[in-house]
Amino acid sequence: MYTKTFLSTALAVALASAQNNSQSLNALITNEGELSGLGTLLESYPDLADTLYSAQNITLFAPSNAAISALQRSPGFESITEAQVGALLNYHIVAGEVPSSAITETPTFAHTLLNDTAYANVTDGQVLSVRLSDDVETDTETDDSEDSDTPAVVVTSGLKTEATVVQADLNYTNGIVHVIDTVLTIPLNVSTTAYAANLTALAGALTAANLVDTLDAASDITVFAPSNDAFSAIGSAAGNLSTQQLSDILQYHVINSTIAYSSSLGNGSVETVGGGILNITVTDGVVFVNSARVINADILISGGVMHVIDSVLNPNNSTQSEPDADEDEPVVQFSGASSAPLGALTSGAPAASTTVTALVATTEDVAQGYPTQTGGAIGTGAGGSEPTGSNSGGGSGSESSSSDMASMPTGAIGAAALFGGAVLLANL
Ligand SMILES: *[C@@H]1O[C@H](CO)[C@@H](O)[C@H](O)[C@H]1NC(C)=O
Ligand SMILES: *[C@@H]1O[C@H](CO)[C@@H](O)[C@H](O)[C@H]1NC(C)=O
Ligand SMILES: *[C@@H]1O[C@H](CO)[C@@H](O)[C@H](O)[C@H]1NC(C)=O
Ligand SMILES: *[C@@H]1O[C@H](CO)[C@@H](O)[C@H](O)[C@H]1NC(C)=O
Ligand SMILES: *[C@@H]1O[C@H](CO)[C@@H](O)[C@H](O)[C@H]1NC(C)=O
Ligand SMILES: *[C@@H]1O[C@H](CO)[C@@H](O)[C@H](O)[C@H]1NC(C)=O
Ligand SMILES: *[C@@H]1O[C@H](CO)[C@@H](O)[C@H](O)[C@H]1NC(C)=O
Ligand SMILES: *[C@@H]1O[C@H](CO)[C@@H](O)[C@H](O)[C@H]1NC(C)=O
Ligand SMILES: *[C@@H]1O[C@H](CO)[C@@H](O)[C@H](O)[C@H]1NC(C)=O
Ligand SMILES: *[C@@H]1O[C@H](CO)[C@@H](O)[C@H](O)[C@H]1NC(C)=O
Ligand SMILES: *[C@@H]1O[C@H](CO)[C@@H](O)[C@H](O)[C@H]1NC(C)=O
Ligand SMILES: *[C@@H]1O[C@H](CO)[C@@H](O)[C@H](O)[C@H]1NC(C)=O
Repeated sequence: MYTKTFLSTALAVALASAQNNSQSLNALITNEGELSGLGTLLESYPDLADTLYSAQNITLFAPSNAAISALQRSPGFESITEAQVGALLNYHIVAGEVPSSAITETPTFAHTLLNDTAYANVTDGQVLSVRLSDDVETDTETDDSEDSDTPAVVVTSGLKTEATVVQADLNYTNGIVHVIDTVLTIPLNVSTTAYAANLTALAGALTAANLVDTLDAASDITVFAPSNDAFSAIGSAAGNLSTQQLSDILQYHVINSTIAYSSSLGNGSVETVGGGILNITVTDGVVFVNSARVINADILISGGVMHVIDSVLNPNNSTQSEPDADEDEPVVQFSGASSAPLGALTSGAPAASTTVTALVATTEDVAQGYPTQTGGAIGTGAGGSEPTGSNSGGGSGSESSSSDMASMPTGAIGAAALFGGAVLLANL
């Protein structure tokens, strides 16, 4: 008798501390102080709440009270529709249970439940990226002496909006909840994202080539997006291109039917929309496309992913120079072209009124810390595979704010990106 009671008590304690299977999501949201804002928001949408509470085998990235109130204060929130709230909510839910222990420094692109084609054209659902980062700034309003070195789980969404997990692994009957400090941004289409990234020459070129509508509504694509400097480096030639030539060049920058996140790129070649072949080289942590270098990777878009490159690719050049990670001057791939202002290309495109710092920034070490992909140009890492691994930690419990976000200009995109989902409101 004693033994039996002892065992069942021990078992109950073990279960409660390891995994609280007895608690429903509804109860968890009600009981967890940090989720009262979300709970209150959901009360206005009983159908969405019902769907959420009955979902099984999910991971919910649940916005904290501060994140929800920032969303509610953002411009346009008063006219948000139930469909938009539903889309935003679905984008915060990853299929499958992802405990923080499965999240590593290598970003994983995990599919969410957002598969409504009004908001996303990614097979199996739009993705968000999760990674463990020790690069997270911590707030000083509380004692952060211990937190400063503790890695945190960072979730990256549209426009590279970052959210930090402030409370990890709140388990419940049918899934796991991680509390995040910022509402995620649903990835936007190519042209909107290009403006936010100050890629005005690309936007102008797409307009001139009549490719905007096609690319904005495309599904499962990878876009290599030349920077403004890349276009001005061939400015003398760019101004003289026929619409057909411009279209051929731009189509050489797009891979159809494959979303190649940086973690899935490796040495090899891949066919583009125009039929031309791109050679991908990953060397010393740098990703090259022919002789162009990726300088800002993994910008999520409604139909896939965009990587910014430092030179314009030339479909009619089969004598490319070897990629050299030590040489960071962009390599011009059009013989005879010289630098000239962007005038002709950008004339059809409005100036970027507001840009997002994280999109405009460049980095050399795109592939640093990524496993070496040996399965060809686009390996098995493509798409949202389940995170695996055994790193412990994550969810440092520290509030954080990204300096990129803090320094972002105010304005349509700026303010909207600050408040995550508000971008949705400002743009739909
Ligand atoms: C939560 O559940 C996962 C498995 O789904 C488990 O690995 C983890 O240890 C649990 N964490 C807590 C704090 O109960
Ligand atoms: C587990 O869930 C029950 C029911 O909601 C709750 O009363 C209890 O406090 C939870 N236990 C832990 C350890 O979180
Ligand atoms: C949970 O979801 C993951 C990802 O979609 C899937 O691989 C797994 O089979 C599911 N598990 C259960 C028990 O349904
Ligand atoms: C979206 O996902 C749901 C299940 O989560 C599924 O029932 C539905 O068919 C999917 N829709 C599309 C367009 O894939
Ligand atoms: C997804 O594709 C459909 C069909 O091409 C298109 O109508 C829709 O606008 C696209 N969605 C987005 C968010 O661009
Ligand atoms: C945007 O691009 C233009 C043209 O290259 C440049 O002059 C401007 O400084 C850029 N803005 C930002 C915020 O990078
Ligand atoms: C077009 O090419 C000609 C010579 O081939 C050159 O003189 C002229 O400057 C170019 N025009 C533009 C707009 O780049
Ligand atoms: C990608 O391929 C599909 C199927 O072949 C086609 O319908 C679509 O138009 C292509 N997309 C682009 C951007 O070329
Ligand atoms: C990819 O190619 C580069 C340059 O040739 C080489 O340095 C690197 O080792 C290659 N990576 C793999 C995994 O083969
Ligand atoms: C790609 O690599 C192949 C084989 O190494 C080579 O023949 C081809 O010229 C390269 N293409 C470009 C555009 O560099
Ligand atoms: C091809 O690209 C290389 C740089 O990779 C450049 O040196 C060369 O001039 C280009 N050739 C042509 C025909 O555009
Ligand atoms: C791209 O998104 C913007 C903002 O949501 C929207 O105004 C525009 O119509 C979209 N482009 C297309 C071709 O649907």
